[in-house]
Amino acid sequence: MKREGFNSKAGAIAAAAGSAVGLGNIWRFPYVTGENGGAAFLLLYIFFMILIALPVLMAEFSIGRMTGKPVTDAFKTLSPKGYWYGIGLSGVICAFVIMSFYNVVAGWTMYYIYLSITGTLQGLNPDEVSQTFTNTMSDPILSIYWMIIMLSITGYVVARGVSKGIERYSKILMPILLILIILVCIRSLTLDTENKGITFLLSPDFSKITMKSVLEALGQAFFSLSLGMGTMTTYGSYISKTQNLPKSAVSVAMIDFFIAFLAGLMIFPCAFACGVNPGSGPGLVFETLPNIFNQMPMGYIVSVVFFLLLSVAAVTSSISMLEVLVDFLLSKFNIKRPRATAIAVTLTILLGIGCASYSPMLDFFDNLSANVLLPLGGFFIILFVPLRVGAEKMREEMEAHGGKFKLFPAFYFLAKWVAPWAILFIFISKMLTWIGIDLFA
Ligand code: PFF
Repeated sequence: MKREGFNSKAGAIAAAAGSAVGLGNIWRFPYVTGENGGAAFLLLYIFFMILIALPVLMAEFSIGRMTGKPVTDAFKTLSPKGYWYGIGLSGVICAFVIMSFYNVVAGWTMYYIYLSITGTLQGLNPDEVSQTFTNTMSDPILSIYWMIIMLSITGYVVARGVSKGIERYSKILMPILLILIILVCIRSLTLDTENKGITFLLSPDFSKITMKSVLEALGQAFFSLSLGMGTMTTYGSYISKTQNLPKSAVSVAMIDFFIAFLAGLMIFPCAFACGVNPGSGPGLVFETLPNIFNQMPMGYIVSVVFFLLLSVAAVTSSISMLEVLVDFLLSKFNIKRPRATAIAVTLTILLGIGCASYSPMLDFFDNLSANVLLPLGGFFIILFVPLRVGAEKMREEMEAHGGKFKLFPAFYFLAKWVAPWAILFIFISKMLTWIGIDLFA
């Protein structure tokens, strides 16, 4: 069977950006930044994006396109001996773990569309808004119900295939989300008359940096760019040879960062203006946004459309994870795409029921994936480049479109000497905190 691919350059970038931009930017980034003290964390995050995440993204795209294979086979093709194919396998496992909790949160965003339409959130004071979220989170049946709806939609798109499903939806919906975020940002900024939110996000206090925040900034960079589990390797395999890979990677990373930053500008000013603690954890977005909508013109309609688009952003990311699983099943078993999708969705629902019923499991999976599994996956992927692919083959792939990649030496230097060792250093330093040594405290 011929492997599908993206039809156009813009479509490929939209699909990869659709994977990157999601709850990681709008739900996770503000809450993790809030818990880690704001601006100093943001700087660390930018630093890791450029020096570690971007090279890993370029490596994933290139490895995917070079082989044109599903993630497990891609690593095996380039390195038939040894255990490198394990990278692909661990990606498949990681996709399950992330999908299971991600869709619970995505389900909440969908439930908030319903609450917005019925006007339930209108006129509530900030305490009542917080209470609404607490009630939502602690109702397993409700969470399971919306998670199943979310996963069914994801499954429907994936079952339709790469270009007809993923590419088409991503191209239309991402720009609309961006416009709406900007609108909501403006209202949030005008609510915060004392500029406390802006100060929190933009004026760094380095004393807030601890080893925990260093690891979390790295984890957030990986999570947000969908790295370390083969998603971008799989997408790379769908990108045409005529497309400039390094440039596409930079575009995706910039879009991803920009939207996370805007989400910060949207959440923090309002959090301060409404007395919501920016470090209040995973509920931050749900406890903040309804307050902005309650105080803006046409708040009702903006609220409905906003949660709708947030759900869409979640679906486009969820699609990319499901695609890793489906692609894996298709390559291993002689089954058709719709059946592979149904199997993957059913297994994810079973794991998701655990996360929906027991919130510590959700937090644990969130932490485990972003702060351990993805960076470790990224470590092996980037190490694979100098050890198994080599400079010549890598450059050939990155320049396959016919142009020159002038920064190739910088990329290769980062891939060989900086990124893997920085990840390792951060891991070891984190482990030292278990015996009471914090290198950054
Ligand atoms: N990058 C997605 C987000 O920011 O919401 C989440 C994600 C998608 C993580 C795909 C990992 C992945 F493979």
